[in-house]
Amino acid sequence: MTIQLLAAALLTTLLAQTATAAGPISSPSSSRDANLVERGKYLVKISGCNDCHTPGYMPADGQVPQRLWLTGSAVGFQGAWGTTYPSNLRLSMNALSEAEWLVRARQPMRPPMPWFNLQGMTDRDLLAIYRFVRSLGPAGEPTPVAAAPGEPVDTPYFEFMPKNLPAPAHQARR
Ligand code: HEC
Repeated sequence: MTIQLLAAALLTTLLAQTATAAGPISSPSSSRDANLVERGKYLVKISGCNDCHTPGYMPADGQVPQRLWLTGSAVGFQGAWGTTYPSNLRLSMNALSEAEWLVRARQPMRPPMPWFNLQGMTDRDLLAIYRFVRSLGPAGEPTPVAAAPGEPVDTPYFEFMPKNLPAPAHQARR
């Protein structure tokens, strides 16, 4: 074989490989995206987002159809911070870009939202949650606006107040 023939054969092989790698079905980036959505679903499920943000999830032992997941709850949580409602993430996350979500997810929020757990997630895990929620599409209604401390509300609510606490140490010693 001449040098020219060898070079031509090499080029043909290289071109064929490039064409395969760029094909839509075997595209590594689309399977990575699918993996990210799956991981988001897993994270939402095991990190408890549904427990508060999906209506009826806890009483139904988690047996709520996925199409209703994260549509928010109109049952408030009342405590020293006022009354807050687990927001409709299907609406709020659909209104944010990925970059905006990464900022929002790391901001402090009122109780009982465990915002410090979101803050501890990696960018990749937060993006996975975002991609999963976006894949479900927007659904449901906005939840009631939070009420200030002491402000009466006419929605149902849980009272988040520890009862029967032990006396502080200095009192117990007397
Ligand atoms: C113990 C109940 C509870 C759990 C568990 C919970 N949240 Fe929340 N979440 C709330 C409440 C209540 C609010 C409203 C807080 C406020 O008004 O400041 C909220 C607010 C939010 C907000 C800000 C409002 C918005 O829509 O942008 C985001 C984002 C959020 N939660 C995401 C999540 C994610 C993701 C998870 C799972 C990792 C989760 N939450 C788990 C109760 C909860």
